[in-house]
Amino acid sequence: MGYVLQIVLAVFLFVCSTEAFGRRVGGLQYIDQEDDDIQNLARFAVDEINKKSNDYFRAKLVEVRQAQSQVVSGILYHMNITIWDTVCSKIEFVTDLKDCKFNNQEKKQRCSVNLWVVPWDNVKSLEDYHCTPESDKVSETFPFYQEFEDFRKKYERPYEKNSDEYVKRYYLFSDNMERVRVLNENERGTATYGATKFADLHPDEFKKMYTGLKVPAKSSSHSDMKQAKIPDGPTPASFDWRTLGAVTKVKNQEQCGSCWAFSTTGNIEGQWKIKKGKLVSLSEQQLVDCDKIDEGCDGGLPSDAYKETIRMGGLETEGEYPYKAEDEKCELNKKDIRVYINGSVNITSDETKMTTWLANNGPISIGINAAMMQFYFGGVAHPFKLFCNPQSLDHGVLIVGYGTKPGILWGENPYWIVKNSWGPDWGVQGYYLVYRGDGVCGLNTMCTSSVVN
Ligand SMILES: *[C@@H]1O[C@H](CO)[C@@H](O)[C@H](O)[C@H]1NC(C)=O
Ligand SMILES: *[C@@H]1O[C@H](CO)[C@@H](O)[C@H](O)[C@H]1NC(C)=O
Ligand SMILES: *[C@@H]1O[C@H](CO)[C@@H](O)[C@H](O)[C@H]1NC(C)=O
Repeated sequence: MGYVLQIVLAVFLFVCSTEAFGRRVGGLQYIDQEDDDIQNLARFAVDEINKKSNDYFRAKLVEVRQAQSQVVSGILYHMNITIWDTVCSKIEFVTDLKDCKFNNQEKKQRCSVNLWVVPWDNVKSLEDYHCTPESDKVSETFPFYQEFEDFRKKYERPYEKNSDEYVKRYYLFSDNMERVRVLNENERGTATYGATKFADLHPDEFKKMYTGLKVPAKSSSHSDMKQAKIPDGPTPASFDWRTLGAVTKVKNQEQCGSCWAFSTTGNIEGQWKIKKGKLVSLSEQQLVDCDKIDEGCDGGLPSDAYKETIRMGGLETEGEYPYKAEDEKCELNKKDIRVYINGSVNITSDETKMTTWLANNGPISIGINAAMMQFYFGGVAHPFKLFCNPQSLDHGVLIVGYGTKPGILWGENPYWIVKNSWGPDWGVQGYYLVYRGDGVCGLNTMCTSSVVN
């Protein structure tokens, strides 16, 4: 009995712990809808729909909302796409649809399409499709209607029922709930996803409003930071700088791409407390307004912000130079500077060595891909790479500790405790718990700290 159970567990573990679901033959698998091949395939589908429909205008792809593939004796693609008529009629000669503007007089259409592709036989065909125009009104029978109403009340959204904005937000919300379903079905840790306060924003819109890490092109001169020394000796199994008073309360960047400033102040607050014994909440607005390398609400980088902090002679406190969530003129008062730094270091991308550095030195500023954070409710997040490209860093946050939690059925989830800047009403009282040891969402690729002597 025990033996059989072990075999069952072993097989299941294999399926769950590798990226096997992405390669299973015959089963449905989710694919990255931003992938160039998928985008091209979707444009091919729209061309075919244009040939078959009786519309006067040519439609163009707005976006691929979700895509799945199934390997049978070719590949069957199932996609949910949004298309929109352009101002170009079908009788005009058009070389490139890119030149045709969207037609505001017409409605967007939501289509589900099935495509059949046999790469080795050069076969590509639109098997079937079904399109429905977006509605002017949202009725109770629409999917996620009740969830949307609950969301709208809970977060006091200003849009009136069935106003244009309401209908637009309803569609975004219901698309997001489809995304949430996929994330919950494919979560490898213990995280759950749902209708957070960001649930009526398109992921692109969300990224623009609430992140703000500006990663420079590879060629630029950003590799001149000193490498941090990793101390020898034992590292505790868990650690949390919050319990040692080195972390200020969770702040809120609001609609401004200033995450980089919060990641920086969080790190300096920790260094100052550890070296000088006093926890002082520091001014992000000073960095937003006065840092000349970074771009305020349009984004920036902690590694630049350390340099600028040194140039300015240090930082004022939150109280003296309060946060406004917009770009303003620099109002730095040198005599109000309370905290200085003397340098900065680049910390290893080895997550085991990161724990050693953190436990010995303080919280670490990191860059991360925030794609999984828009709908994060709680638990240890361990998404497949497919949903969170580690090369697409867009958000700056702060690792303040780490630990290990049991898995849902068995196994363990080592995790990082990440302080975010979206207020305490997001995530776990403002914090994100994310799997440690797998380079999740690129969290180990931009780890830095200031140095206070
Ligand atoms: C497309 O949408 C339908 C209904 O909204 C849903 O059942 C289906 O799973 C979606 N397809 C994909 C590939 O997500
Ligand atoms: C930090 O070190 C990594 C290698 O561990 C390197 O790729 C990166 O460019 C360095 N960053 C900076 C800002 O020096
Ligand atoms: C660190 O920087 C401060 C402020 O610029 C300076 O007064 C201090 O002497 C520096 N400490 C060291 C050890 O260089």
